[in-house]
Amino acid sequence: MDKSTIICKCEEINIDEIETALKMGAQTFNDVKRLTRCGMGQCQAKICMNLVRNLIHQVSDIPLSEISPATMRMPLKMIRIEVLAGDCEPKNVVSIFEESISEEGD
Ligand code: FES
Repeated sequence: MDKSTIICKCEEINIDEIETALKMGAQTFNDVKRLTRCGMGQCQAKICMNLVRNLIHQVSDIPLSEISPATMRMPLKMIRIEVLAGDCEPKNVVSIFEESISEEGD
């Protein structure tokens, strides 16, 4: 693959940038993420995580099974804990704001 091949489409990070991070001492996906922003895009590493893990494996000879996946984060938009628990249907952000405003007025 060409060094300019984009690995992380969301943050437009190419192979060369990831290899530079690995030369700087990165050994995990999270290390690469901190140095390059790879995996911090809208898809939250769903597309690029395994590509980066494969690059780490090729460069460092660390077995693929020992390279940890990315640390997962909470959802990007506001969501009530009761929705996460599965106790109610998800609402859009606007209706959550409207609901909180009406609660303040009570
Ligand atoms: S492709 Fe890397 S964060 Fe989306």
